[in-house]
Amino acid sequence: MIKDRLEEIKRQAFESLEDSLKDESLDKLNQIKVKILGKKGELTEVLKGMKEVSKEDRPKIGQLVNDTRQEIESALEEAKLKLNKSIREAKIRSETIDVTLPGKRPVFGSRHPITIALDEIIRIFTGMGYEIAEGREIELDYYNFEALNIPDGHPAKDEQDTFYITDKILLRTQTSGTQVHEMEKGKLPIRMISPGRVFRSDEVDATHSPSFYQVEGLLIDEEVSFSDLKGTLAEFARQLFGEDTRVKFRPHHFPFTEPSAEMDVSCFKCGGKGCRFCKGEGWIEILGCGMVHPHVLEMSGIDPVRYKGFAFGVGLERIALLKYEIDDMRLLYENDYRFLKQF
Ligand code: DAH
Repeated sequence: MIKDRLEEIKRQAFESLEDSLKDESLDKLNQIKVKILGKKGELTEVLKGMKEVSKEDRPKIGQLVNDTRQEIESALEEAKLKLNKSIREAKIRSETIDVTLPGKRPVFGSRHPITIALDEIIRIFTGMGYEIAEGREIELDYYNFEALNIPDGHPAKDEQDTFYITDKILLRTQTSGTQVHEMEKGKLPIRMISPGRVFRSDEVDATHSPSFYQVEGLLIDEEVSFSDLKGTLAEFARQLFGEDTRVKFRPHHFPFTEPSAEMDVSCFKCGGKGCRFCKGEGWIEILGCGMVHPHVLEMSGIDPVRYKGFAFGVGLERIALLKYEIDDMRLLYENDYRFLKQF
């Protein structure tokens, strides 16, 4: 009777093994194991029935139970191996890569025209031994105006529509305050440029924005003259706009320089003959400059008898617009990918 029961268990075990292989289910395999070989499993139940078996038959039946157990165990083991293998193979099949498919082109970004213009200006001036100074976007009134010879009530203060944070703290309207910070450090000579963002409460249009970029320049040493300024800025213009570029200095006024000038470059479109690009002038204004005012030197603790200096300020947007023949400043801020990817 036990013998029949063992046969039956074996038959059922093999049948459900087949099933779980068909279903590719490891769970089902484990369930079979528990159901038959577990502590409360069917084979254990059979062993309990040994009490009824006569003494002389017990070893034989015991052996039979063990054989059955082993047979089922190794069948289970084999099924498990098979199943694992086919699961692995299915996974590999699902992960194969079709190397004949066409590739996806990565989208490359490009540098912003303002960044390109700035990098170019930095390259030119660092090539002449200038260092880069970091300025402050939030500035004291003192550095933005007073120390630059623009005292309260000065009309220049009015011209530059300023965003005030408090009476004494403001968003800088020009990078020129960096000159003062550098001079106050007391390390001479100075040769620096300082690019950065400036703010003025202007309405947005094709040539104005409430926030734009300037690059400030300052050189201070003994025996510096206006011809040093001219030579330096003429070389800058040639490197930026091409070897044939000519420059012209027109007298101007800035409170912190004396004398002051604006520098024009010969139109790089028509070579100076006059065209639509330079509005028939043949010349294009690109920066303001001058010899640092002795009073400005003095206020920053520099002896104006021994030391002289020149300074200049360039509008970065203007350079980018000119160099890349862009006719509306707003294009620089809208971040339209179709525009930006051309650079
Ligand atoms: N800060 C001036 C402006 O915003 C530009 C400028 C002119 C800077 C002459 C200078 C300079 O350093 O010497 O219009």
